[in-house]
Order: sequence, then C-alpha cells, then structure tokens
Amino acid sequence: MPGLTIGDTVADLELETTQGKIWIHDYVGDGYCIVFSHPADFTPVCTTELGMMAKYAPEFEKRGVKLLGLSCDDVESHKEWIKDVEAYTPGSLVTYPIAADPKREVIKQLNMVDPDEEDASGNQLPSRALHVVGPDKKVKLSMLYPASTGRNMDEVLRVVDSLQKAAKHKVATPVNWKPGDPVVISPSVSNEEAKQMFPQGFETTDLPSKKEYLRFTQA
Ligand code: BEZ
Repeated sequence: MPGLTIGDTVADLELETTQGKIWIHDYVGDGYCIVFSHPADFTPVCTTELGMMAKYAPEFEKRGVKLLGLSCDDVESHKEWIKDVEAYTPGSLVTYPIAADPKREVIKQLNMVDPDEEDASGNQLPSRALHVVGPDKKVKLSMLYPASTGRNMDEVLRVVDSLQKAAKHKVATPVNWKPGDPVVISPSVSNEEAKQMFPQGFETTDLPSKKEYLRFTQA
C-alpha cells in the first residue's frame, strides 16, 4: 500500500525478523505497536537510535506498546549489529524484533522508502519512518525523518501518551503537552456534553472571537 498514512490499515505482511517470522497483525495483537525503520545496519545514527529505543522499551511496554524495528539488511547482519548497539548504549538490551527487507518489498508497502538514499549497489533505502499502529491495525501517527536526523525517543513516548489519552477521553493535547498537563476538549463535544463527560469541570478561554472552542480540563 504505497502512501500508507494516518487512518490506513497496515498490510498484514509476513516478516523475517531477528526473532523469527512474524505476521504484522498478530504481532500488534490487541495493543499498540511502533514500527520504525532505519536506513541500514552498522551506520552511526541508526546505532544510537536502536540502543535508545531499547532503553525506552520498558516505558513502551507499560503502555501496552510493542516495538518492531526494520532495516533492509538480512537477519544475520541485524544479529551482528545488535552487539554494537548494546555495547554503544550501556544498559540497553534489544528485546524487540528487527525485521529484514533485502528485497525492499516491506518498505514500499509501509511507505518507508527514502527517495534520496541508496546503497552502494543503487538499491533503495528506508528513511527514518515511524508508524504508531493501533489495536485496530490502523496507523494512528507517522513520523518521517531523513537519514541525517536521529529521532527523539522522548517525543515518541510523548506522542504515544497523547494518542492513548485522546483515544480514552474525548480530548486532544495542545502544543508542548506532556503527561499531567491540561488537555483540550474536542470541538465535536458540546458544552452540555462536556459538563457530563468532565465532572471535574473545564475552563473556557475568553478569545476575541467569543467562540468558546478552547476549553481546558484535566483528564
Ligand atoms: C546513519 O545512521 O548515521 C546514516 C545512515 C544512512 C545515511 C546517513 C546516515
């Protein structure tokens, strides 16, 4: 499914991984899953990212989120690479599977191809793409970074918290939100409904338009 984006169902592909064959839908199961790709094994930024993701794995697990890495090299290469990853980031254990994609079929299906990167043989490479997949197997959020920019795992955790908060309550999270901060009530919720839904109350911000759309509450 080229062009996979928010709201699309992830194809149920069979993947070769460092932990054996998996089907994506089975792996996601009833929880969330972060599928994140890397341009190549044994490259500097990727090595730092995989190690940090491993360090954050317990935080994702607490939130019912599985991790699934992807790099185009083969499984044997991934297994060798993991030794470097764990050595570089002390305390990291790569307990999540890393999928191989030597034929570049998976990265095309998951919309992870970087148009600007190719290996020495002219093969396509993945970008630093990341999809948060929900229990319904649909993409809830995607990030797309170039090879030159490593991702911020605090931000990945933050967006998971935002997605799960929004899924549980009819709320959205404002700019720079972090857990514990006030959330905003979705525009689809009327003030009458909001009184029922948020017995703790909510504050409506007085704006020049006098439109009462910026309503904060705790959830
Ligand atoms: C890296 O992981 O550092 C990297 C990989 C491919 C291209 C550029 C940088």
